Amino acid sequence: MPAPNRKRVLFLALAFVAAGSVLFVKQSAAQKMPRFFFGPKVVVPFQQVPKGVDSLSAKACKKCHEEIYNQWSKSMHAKAWVDPVWLAGWENFGRPPFCHNCHIPLANQKPKMLVGFRDKDTFPPVHIYMNNPNFSAELFKEGITCAVCHIRDGMIYGPFEIPQEKSPHPVAYSPEHKQAEFCYSCHEFAFPRFQIHPMIDTPAEYKEKFRPKDERTCQECHMPGMEGPIATGGEKREWRMHSWQGGNNIEYLKEAVAMAVEKDKESYGPGETAKINVKLVNTGAGHMFPTGDPNRAVYLQMTVLDDAGRKVAYKESRIMRQIEMFMYPTEIVDNRLAPGEARDFPFVFKVPPGGRVSLKVELLHYLQYPKRAAEIPYPVDKLKAVIYSQVVPLTQ
Ligand code: HEC
Ligand code: HEC
Ligand code: HEC
Ligand code: HEC
Ligand code: HEC
Repeated sequence: MPAPNRKRVLFLALAFVAAGSVLFVKQSAAQKMPRFFFGPKVVVPFQQVPKGVDSLSAKACKKCHEEIYNQWSKSMHAKAWVDPVWLAGWENFGRPPFCHNCHIPLANQKPKMLVGFRDKDTFPPVHIYMNNPNFSAELFKEGITCAVCHIRDGMIYGPFEIPQEKSPHPVAYSPEHKQAEFCYSCHEFAFPRFQIHPMIDTPAEYKEKFRPKDERTCQECHMPGMEGPIATGGEKREWRMHSWQGGNNIEYLKEAVAMAVEKDKESYGPGETAKINVKLVNTGAGHMFPTGDPNRAVYLQMTVLDDAGRKVAYKESRIMRQIEMFMYPTEIVDNRLAPGEARDFPFVFKVPPGGRVSLKVELLHYLQYPKRAAEIPYPVDKLKAVIYSQVVPLTQ
């Protein structure tokens, strides 16, 4: 009887998750230890304001950490609540509060608290909520704010061993901040009952396909190194930018992928067969390209155009995951580029008689691929970026 068993296992798993987060809250009060373990499906328990700072808000940290504040405020972490693409996606899902868990992870930020699940045969499963008595409207809009990653139980943790007298607020050394594992729990997102791979699976891609060959951490790529004081009046240190660039930044997309167009002949005569090959290489991403949100997609479009700009031949390849949102959400296709992978995209066609023709090759990135953009709905042009565009003459 596979179906009832599966349901039972799921129910037990959810009960365990709920119990786990309660346990976590209790432990953190008693032992002052768990720190940066982002609990099951990312819950950061309620935090008090540490001594020496005015509030938990990033604005209070800006007073002394202005450079870091400015970097953070331009990142998607700062926009994780106000980002219009996320808001549109959330709206389309029926605004479930459980989406808050990673986009506004701190208990103080949540208007409603998730207190349990009811395992009805629905997708997503039925969640049970209560209003949050500790809700802070100021913190709410700060998304993944400084406190989420640095404050636990009145202490401010960071990557340095700083003598207490050098800092106006309590400081403690956390080796975890330098480890890739620090980023894992938010960057892995599985709906219950998900089949094959979680919805967002960047850590597994990194661990299985990148880490065995290359020691670099998520931080080493996504938080580039800097030199100078980390706070007003502080001493010179080697530290890391809070920039976290990714699919929203065209320069960063160019860093991830290289494109080359190869022809089997310098030029072609009328009626000749042209064999073109476009080579794509994942040169810079420490995980699949694209990664993260499965609605991300890369389209390679090859268009043969005549003198008048008319389409003579066309080929499109889509590089993405396709997921069906059934009762048991399932991955149908995953043809993304693994770290270091080079792949050929051949295009063979007959050059038309008469006139000159050229080939236009475009590599496009979608934050949400066209079908999903229409579903949300969101103007697809605002979700599209041209990574590379190249025109290659084919005739003399
Ligand atoms: C998503 C988690 C995250 C958020 C949000 C975040 N930090 Fe950090 N922060 C880190 C990590 C990780 C490091 C350590 C990087 C390393 O050394 O490898 C760090 C390091 C630091 C340091 C030491 C200097 C440095 O940059 O290495 C300071 C100071 C700091 N953060 C302050 C802030 C302030 C202020 C904010 C908000 C404006 C903030 N952080 C937001 C994760 C975060
Ligand atoms: C009044 C000034 C001031 C304010 C406000 C302030 N900091 Fe600091 N912070 C410092 C100084 C000074 C240091 C030590 C710098 C050094 O020794 O290089 C420091 C160190 C740190 C470190 C490094 C800790 C370590 O051990 O690696 C982190 C992280 C940090 N602050 C985060 C924050 C956050 C988050 C806020 C806001 C909630 C904040 N700070 C508010 C002045 C301030
Ligand atoms: C508390 C949860 C949380 C933690 C911890 C966290 N992230 Fe994120 N991160 C998110 C969320 C949520 C987003 C998406 C925000 C959006 O687009 O609305 C995001 C976005 C990003 C992006 C930008 C993607 C883009 O679209 O441009 C990068 C890069 C990134 N994170 C890297 C990291 C790295 C590296 C670490 C570890 C130092 C880390 N994150 C830690 C939750 C987290
Ligand atoms: C070797 C460098 C490198 C390492 C290591 C690396 N990344 Fe990336 N990452 C990139 C590049 C380049 C991109 C831009 C490509 C893209 O957005 O798809 C990127 C993109 C991203 C994005 C944005 C995805 C999107 O579509 O917006 C996220 C989120 C992310 N990385 C998280 C992580 C996390 C978490 C880790 C560690 C588990 C990590 N990265 C390790 C280089 C790296
Ligand atoms: C386990 C953590 C987690 C939970 C829970 C979560 N997200 Fe996210 N979300 C992320 C991360 C990490 C990213 C960034 C991935 C990337 O850049 O590709 C992200 C990115 C997104 C984006 C893309 C934003 C952009 O900048 O393009 C949308 C839309 C989104 N999430 C919607 C949702 C919705 C709707 C829910 C609830 C059904 C939800 N998320 C729950 C972690 C989470």
